[in-house]
Amino acid sequence: MLCLGIETSCDETAVALCDDGRPVLEKLASQARLHAVFGGVVPELASREHLRCLGPLLDALFAESGLTLAAVDAVAVARGPGLLGSLLVGLAAAKGLCLGAGKPLIGVDHLHAHLMAATLGRAVAYPALGLLVSGGHTQIVRLDGPLAMTVLGRTIDDAAGEAFDKAAKSLNLPYPGGVYIDVLGRGIAPDRTLFPRPYLDNDHLNFSFSGLKTAVAAYVAAHPELRTPAMPDAVGPIDPEAWPMALRRVCASLNFAIAETLRVKLVRAMDGQPAPVASLLAAGGVAANGPIRAMLAEVAARRRVPLYLPEPVLCADNATMIAATGCLLGRAGLTHDLSLAPIPRGRK
Ligand code: KG4
Ligand code: ZN
Repeated sequence: MLCLGIETSCDETAVALCDDGRPVLEKLASQARLHAVFGGVVPELASREHLRCLGPLLDALFAESGLTLAAVDAVAVARGPGLLGSLLVGLAAAKGLCLGAGKPLIGVDHLHAHLMAATLGRAVAYPALGLLVSGGHTQIVRLDGPLAMTVLGRTIDDAAGEAFDKAAKSLNLPYPGGVYIDVLGRGIAPDRTLFPRPYLDNDHLNFSFSGLKTAVAAYVAAHPELRTPAMPDAVGPIDPEAWPMALRRVCASLNFAIAETLRVKLVRAMDGQPAPVASLLAAGGVAANGPIRAMLAEVAARRRVPLYLPEPVLCADNATMIAATGCLLGRAGLTHDLSLAPIPRGRK
């Protein structure tokens, strides 16, 4: 099954083709630069930018792949969670293509798709435990199969990505700051007691990262010299050597606090399942983080289960994950009609 995927849920406009779950080609336009000056995604700008970029990206996808819309078996589109206006742009485009070319439409849950990015090209053993860590979500889910997901825990306030981004904002690092904190902390021993590992003193699997954000803000207020004086250009490779050591230690300590918090709940979740967990998955933009990937590898090795991580480029928002999930849903006969509506807040 050749599936076209469309992703417009937040600040990446992306289209991709997958053939029976195998990635064929992706075309992606990031809006990071556009929103960087505002220090966060501006919804109105995001939807206008999706509208501007989607047509040319589709043209480029078909031109470069040598394939045509006629060859596509289904059109899959992210229906949420995400920004309402942005989702509507993707949904309208997908519906137009389906209506014009007589193709089935498949609405895809963006979070499900993130997790499926970890399974691409792999024979995953189930039940699997999945850690989904992105800018808007932090969840632990059990997958009894690729289409059978149970959410076991979620954040009650900020997501892990928000903790990274807001800490970066306190430090006056460019937006989105997660990748800066990751790279600047590389090779530096963390101070393990500098920041709290929040919300572990309980017996459930939910997360709360808002206290960590406050702890970082308070630490930076007490050490104003840590703030970078001017916002450097967010584009281009990051050279960690060019940054002060004290700032880099703060970054390493924050990576450690977040990775450890995720580890405690993940291990707790593994211990609490009715059947032994056969594999670990992680996905979402924050799953590109070096110390978090190292923590996951260590947990998997200790528990002797395989770990499936998307390559870093497929951790962030992309359309390959939407097309691949579309293939799974389509093969199972799960399609939608043209009344498909966005679900901006996601399923509960
Ligand atoms: O999955 P994603 O691209 O978009 C959402 O669906 O939210 O995740 C974006 C989040 C942002 O908070 C960004 O700062 C964070 O992922 N992120 C990282 C890294 N790369 C992206 N956080 C920590 N380390 C990274 N290397
Ligand atoms: Zn996402």
